[in-house]
Amino acid sequence: MADITRSIVELQEKYHAALRQAGRANGNLRLRAKYLTEAASAQYELSKLTRGSSSDDHVNECSRLLQEANQIKEQLGMQDTPAPQSQPAPAVPVPPVQPAPVPVSAPAPVQPAPQKAQENNVQGSSTEGLDVEGFSPESIQMKEPGNVSFDGLIGMDHAVSVVTTFFKNRHNMKTYTHLAAQMPKDAMVMDIMLYGPPGTGKTYFMKAIGNYVLKTVPNSAFFILPPDVLRTKHVGVSGDRLTSIFREMEKYENPVLCIDEIDALGASRDGANQGQYVTDLVTQLLQLIDGVKGKSDVLLIGGTNFPWNVDPAIISRMTERVYIGLPTKEAVTGYLTKGLKPFVSKEAGVLEKVASDVAGMLEHVTMRDLSTLINRVSNESFFTTTQAYPDNPEIAEFIPLEPERIRLYASKIVTVYDPEYNDRLVHPEKW
Ligand SMILES: Nc1ncnc2c1ncn2[C@@H]1O[C@H](COP(=O)(O)OP(=O)(O)OP(=O)(O)O)[C@@H](O)[C@H]1O
Ligand SMILES: [Mg+2]
Repeated sequence: MADITRSIVELQEKYHAALRQAGRANGNLRLRAKYLTEAASAQYELSKLTRGSSSDDHVNECSRLLQEANQIKEQLGMQDTPAPQSQPAPAVPVPPVQPAPVPVSAPAPVQPAPQKAQENNVQGSSTEGLDVEGFSPESIQMKEPGNVSFDGLIGMDHAVSVVTTFFKNRHNMKTYTHLAAQMPKDAMVMDIMLYGPPGTGKTYFMKAIGNYVLKTVPNSAFFILPPDVLRTKHVGVSGDRLTSIFREMEKYENPVLCIDEIDALGASRDGANQGQYVTDLVTQLLQLIDGVKGKSDVLLIGGTNFPWNVDPAIISRMTERVYIGLPTKEAVTGYLTKGLKPFVSKEAGVLEKVASDVAGMLEHVTMRDLSTLINRVSNESFFTTTQAYPDNPEIAEFIPLEPERIRLYASKIVTVYDPEYNDRLVHPEKW
């Protein structure tokens, strides 16, 4: 297990390193294709070591990277790297109740930004204002509140209170004018960095913030910038994209910009192999942040698994650092009790027993693992129930699943935990 953990961490680092190299090689397409292929290969290896939705994510990322690499190669008249032909076999066999995995041979659309945007409940954009690759700030803007709310978050009370306190204070500054006049001028200037291990809910929390902001904060706008939006094959386009996003934000009084995996953007400029490309992009981001501050109150929220890789100038602006860690045993039990409820017997004590048994089985589990578990259980319950009642679509309750079946699914979860990595995370002085 320790070996698997180490390999996963190494592969993640290899992936991030290759991506950074690909970013820096932006002017040199041949080099960029090489590093994209390297990053894809790390993702492919990761997909073999992980399971469930995590494995699917790696396969999708591998496919996306290969597609971009192959496009470049096509442009340069080089030979394509074939995509892996099928979903790699999971390390542990899973009962066949999951929907069919996304085949690697059916790659993601060419433009990743709009695809991500849809997940974030972002509306499609018109062709007006699109850049050479079809990007517009609208495509990363959440226009309507989504369905992820603060109420659905487990173990994030502190993170939620940081955000809600900020907006309540900002609102009250307008009415409590005598008090506000005595506060420092930049008291309401704050940027937040969410950091923590993979699968703990950083991206999920960003979506919940979007929901909250759009519902409760007047004249607000919400953007989530996924890292791939700034990974373009055209020189200068990344910087233009950043600028266009900030120009769009200036139109609102309360814009929020989330930069997910901010380490990929602001990779520390001190690094030995940092190139001009990253330096320019980071400098531009810093200038844009400073420039917009006077005009509207942008709240910048970054998310990262590797805070020590974030550019020092960016990190120093993110004065509010919020650690998003693994859920406590209590939180795990609470989440399972709620999530498993529709699928187990209503007999007294059954639900509580299975939730606490499963929580006891899972060490270092992430919220992503738990959500995968609930998805599997719900898929099996749905399948069994619909098979048993083929002509009764009105049926309103599931046939209860045997607790043993749920424990079986739980036993197949492979949790990944690297003590060194986690220790570094919780000790910012070691960054
Ligand atoms: N605090 C939470 N409460 C409820 N569900 C959660 C929570 N955190 C994560 N989840 C579930 O786990 C899934 C994965 O979480 P998410 O993608 O936000 O993790 P992450 O921290 O961004 O991971 P990574 O660092 O790998 O990007 C979510 O889609 C959601 O279903
Ligand atoms: Mg994330």
